[in-house]
Amino acid sequence: MSNDTLLIKHTVSGKEAEYPLLKGVLGADSADLRSLNKDFGCYSYDPGFTITASCKSKITYIDGDKGILLYRGYPIEQLAEHCEFMEVAYLLMNGELPDVTQLRDFNEEISDRAIIHEALRKFFDGFHYDAHPMAMLVGVVGSLSAFYHSELNVKDLEHRRICATRMIGKMPTIAAASYRHSIGRPFVYPRMDLNYCENFLNMMFSRSSQNYIDQQHYIDPTLVKALNLLFILHADHEQNASTSTVRLVGSTGANPYACVAAGIAALWGPLHGGANEAVLNMLAEIGVAENVPKYIAKAKDHNDPFRLAGFGHRVYKNFDPRAIIIRKTCHEVLTKASINDPLFDLALVLEEQALKDEYFIEKKLYPNVDFYSGIIYKALNIPVNMFTVMFAIARTSGWVSHWLESMEESSIPIGRPRQLYLGPETREFIPINER
Ligand code: CMC
Repeated sequence: MSNDTLLIKHTVSGKEAEYPLLKGVLGADSADLRSLNKDFGCYSYDPGFTITASCKSKITYIDGDKGILLYRGYPIEQLAEHCEFMEVAYLLMNGELPDVTQLRDFNEEISDRAIIHEALRKFFDGFHYDAHPMAMLVGVVGSLSAFYHSELNVKDLEHRRICATRMIGKMPTIAAASYRHSIGRPFVYPRMDLNYCENFLNMMFSRSSQNYIDQQHYIDPTLVKALNLLFILHADHEQNASTSTVRLVGSTGANPYACVAAGIAALWGPLHGGANEAVLNMLAEIGVAENVPKYIAKAKDHNDPFRLAGFGHRVYKNFDPRAIIIRKTCHEVLTKASINDPLFDLALVLEEQALKDEYFIEKKLYPNVDFYSGIIYKALNIPVNMFTVMFAIARTSGWVSHWLESMEESSIPIGRPRQLYLGPETREFIPINER
């Protein structure tokens, strides 16, 4: 604990107050301004929470200027190179990498939890065939609490752990079921003998609803490796919009399925997890390399709402380390699978021209993780409207880890921001016939 303080002075009254600077292990200190209103009768104004630390966390660290991303202290590059996704999910949840036995047990527990209640499976029949898979995901995950309510005491550590592993286990099953429903194919049951990524690909693409592999090629090692990598890169990203939503909803004491359903809803937007879908739609709209300058000009024009999807980030201002890894993998996957995807070539042209442009240089706008993830998902035959669902499967491990961490706090204050009120002053009510 440091003795550093931040001194704030009111220029009219001359009143001064000191605020302790809380030291992080890495990164910027945070001024503890909780008594600001008591001292000065005012609030801090920070729409978008650009400078507000909303919690203390030990899970993920980002240095946006240096392009550093650590999960529990481990650089993302090392985890991406050496780990399977389940190791990373375990690390996020438990704080340490698992040993061989712990990983085997964790894998078994997650596989065991992959099956969903038959009545829950029938939920999908109620959705229109062309419902967006994210709409189905929000609804079905939210309704998990209606099926699994025996371990819903959020004050009970074991209940919390069961809820967390249940969501990691069931998310791929629900995601694949939403896809199968949209193409009118029968549900494929999860399998205990496949790993997390293989099982997901099998549930997505198997031509049989029975419990055996009939389409071995859907579980191609190159594609499984790429999926594993994408899941690791998307697993957590500290206090982003969806994770903060999960924590905020959790602060009310709501059940964890409701919290994660809220996180899924927040992820859906094109400025967040919906960006990967938006990138593919944008590349399709641009069409050919000759149109790139026109679209870059549109992105720079403040009178035009168009922005380059997959470019820019609230925190990364030099490069997104996930984008560097994913760009390389994109090349590898397309080469190994002998795919000649004109959209990838177009993405490279767009990236090259934008990175040379003064506007993008000055505003420090670089390709983010989602600029390339969609192209890999496309190579995996994942349909465009499933891209954000893929993000949600991976991010579930981060959401539940943050929820678990927040629930461990001895007292969590309910999330309740203040506002700068700009509406009318107090006025007299006028009866309807006198207005
Ligand atoms: N294209 C064109 N201009 C942009 C872009 C873009 N993609 N991103 C930011 N800008 C401009 C913006 O107009 C603003 O200009 P000015 O200062 O003249 O008003 C300036 O750059 C700063 O932008 P901002 O919107 O204030 O920055 P932010 O930190 O609030 O927003 C962002 C970050 C990611 C929402 C934004 O960069 C964006 O909309 N990018 C496209 C959507 C996207 O790719 N999102 C995925 C993020 S990574 C996945 C995830 O973790 O969710």
